[in-house]
Amino acid sequence: MSADRIITNSTTQTKKMGKKLAQTLKDNEILILVGELGSGKTTFVKGLAKGLGVDANITSPTFVLFKVYKAHKGKIKQLVHADCYRVPGKEFSKIGLAEYMADPHTITAIEWGEKLPKLPRSTKKIFFTYGKKRNERSINITR
Ligand SMILES: Nc1ncnc2c1ncn2[C@@H]1O[C@H](COP(=O)(O)OP(=O)(O)OP(=O)(O)O)[C@@H](O)[C@H]1O
Ligand SMILES: [Mg+2]
Repeated sequence: MSADRIITNSTTQTKKMGKKLAQTLKDNEILILVGELGSGKTTFVKGLAKGLGVDANITSPTFVLFKVYKAHKGKIKQLVHADCYRVPGKEFSKIGLAEYMADPHTITAIEWGEKLPKLPRSTKKIFFTYGKKRNERSINITR
């Protein structure tokens, strides 16, 4: 397993990491964002979206479960941003994400995705942890 662990000291740096990851994505991919409340998952997705050519401003999908954004990066046409904090694991199949996850031109980023039952395909896990300093976060991208 390859791992890429980086310390960031600001939201700007976290967004930059998201943007950088976007450059490595070519087509369909499922990203699982793991980390405590406020650890920077949504912030990271804002940068990811920039890197995927999304024009809209990303806001937390907590209450709507997921949002779909138009993307423009090669074959990638959509970014789906989900937050499963309030979705019981066994309810997951009912929220309608599966179709998007299977789409060859869609990147799906799922906050709290580790709670879900077995996902249909391989995923890339990204771990967010608080650092010692107030604005410090550690981000660990694994395959
Ligand atoms: N280095 C950093 N990277 C990201 N966010 C930071 C950093 N330093 C401070 N913050 C702050 O931490 C918070 C991160 O919020 P964010 O919504 O991204 O977290 P989250 O992991 O999505 O939380 P939730 O599980 O509630 O959805 C913001 O208030 C942001 O300003
Ligand atoms: Mg969030």
